[in-house]
Amino acid sequence: MPLMDLLVPDLVEPLLTGDFGRPYVYEAACDSTQRMLDASLPEGAVAVCDVQTAGRGRIGRTWEAPAGTAILCSLLLRPPAGRRAAELSLLGGLAAAEAVEHATGLAAQIKWPNDVMLNRRKVGGVLAETAGDAVVLGIGLNVNQSREELPTGARVPAGSLYATDSIRRERAPLLADLLARLETAYRRWQLAGLDAVYDELGSRDFLRGRRVYLDGAEGIGVGIDRSGRFEVALPGRRRVVESGEIAYER
Ligand code: BTN
Repeated sequence: MPLMDLLVPDLVEPLLTGDFGRPYVYEAACDSTQRMLDASLPEGAVAVCDVQTAGRGRIGRTWEAPAGTAILCSLLLRPPAGRRAAELSLLGGLAAAEAVEHATGLAAQIKWPNDVMLNRRKVGGVLAETAGDAVVLGIGLNVNQSREELPTGARVPAGSLYATDSIRRERAPLLADLLARLETAYRRWQLAGLDAVYDELGSRDFLRGRRVYLDGAEGIGVGIDRSGRFEVALPGRRRVVESGEIAYER
């Protein structure tokens, strides 16, 4: 791993522009950044590792990336009472998609509820876990993995920024940009809920208009609704999905 591309505090903290990322809790290696944040830390605290030995995905899955290739971070948030924590997955996905677009100049999408897609491949994932009244929002973003280094056999094919455009990137500026974008989206969401970011979300909705499969039935993805659920048009009826995953035609 080139020294210049570690996510050590000395390289990342000078690039931070807001409150997210303070304090910046870094370990070169950890089991999962989801386990590094003490609930007594202030909102905006972030945990970062250059490699995880037991990275966690949604629905009991694992999340793997070779050392020094990805952004692996977890953020401590204390959302206002009454807001659905699940919406934070969408905010994380939106901020990651925007950061990917800024870095690559390519359009990125959000595959409900938590995947960041680039060129039809999953380059990032978001995991929201509650801890008392706090939420630990984990984001994994595949930056510099070669094709050979990406996991195979996933239901949604994995990608990375490097595998998409053959450009190796420093991760520190990308992480700082991601945190700044997430803070902006979060502040807007605190004030006005998902409506505040709905246009940005809707315009990146990967499943909208796609053929999808739900409990054995075939339908068309209508889109993410204003409360963060996903609406599917099935023959003769509409269904709103609260959580889980939606299979789609590749
Ligand atoms: C998913 O798509 O299933 C969510 C993946 C979330 C992975 C990130 S990597 C940083 C943080 N630490 C973890 O153990 N998981 C999340």
